[in-house]
Amino acid sequence: MTAAAEVQVLISAEEIGRKVRELGARIAADAAGAPVHLVGVLKGSFVFMADLARAIPGEVTCDFLRVASYRGTRSTGEVRFEMDLTEPIQGLHVVLVEDIVDTGTTVDALVRLLRARGPASLRVCTLLHKPARSKVPVTLDYCGFTIPDRFVVGYGLDVDGRLRQLPYVGVMEGV
Ligand code: IMP
Repeated sequence: MTAAAEVQVLISAEEIGRKVRELGARIAADAAGAPVHLVGVLKGSFVFMADLARAIPGEVTCDFLRVASYRGTRSTGEVRFEMDLTEPIQGLHVVLVEDIVDTGTTVDALVRLLRARGPASLRVCTLLHKPARSKVPVTLDYCGFTIPDRFVVGYGLDVDGRLRQLPYVGVMEGV
C-alpha cells in the first residue's frame, strides 16, 4: 500500500494553486507597495507558505515559529510554543500563515503574542478553515477554503508526521 492509498482527494493541487495565486494577489494589494513579512506556523504551513511567498508580487520576508497542539488526529487543547521567531516584528506588516484553523485556539494565542510585539499591521492567512469546530472566535483576513469537519492531510498537513508531501489536501478514510 502506498502512503496515499487511504486518502481521498478533497481539494486538488490545481484548485490549491489557483487559490494561492488569488490570496497572494490580495495580500499584495492590501500591502499597497509595503514589504510583507510572512510568519509561518511550523510545521504544517511550510508547503503553503513556500507557494504563497512566491505568489506575492513585491518584497517579501519570511520567518517561522513553531507550536504543537495536536497528537495524532486529536487536539490536545493547549498550545505549546516550541520555537520563536528569529527577528523582531516591530513596525513590520505581518501576515501570520497557518495551514488550518480548527478550534481557533492556536491562531488566537499567536495573534495575542505577535500583537504585543508592535507590528505595523497583523493579518491572518489560513489555507483551510473548519468552522464547525470553532471554539475561539478569530478574524481570518485571508481564507483559502472552508471545509467540513473531517481530518485532512497533505499540502503540509500531517497525521503523526506522515503525508505532508501530498500535493493535494485529502481526507483520511475512516477518520
Ligand atoms: P486549532 O488550534 O484547534 O485551531 O488547531 C490548529 C492546528 O491543529 C493546525 O495548525 C494543525 O496543526 C492542527 N490540525 C487541526 N485540524 C487538522 C487536520 O484536519 N489535519 C491536520 N492537522 C490539523
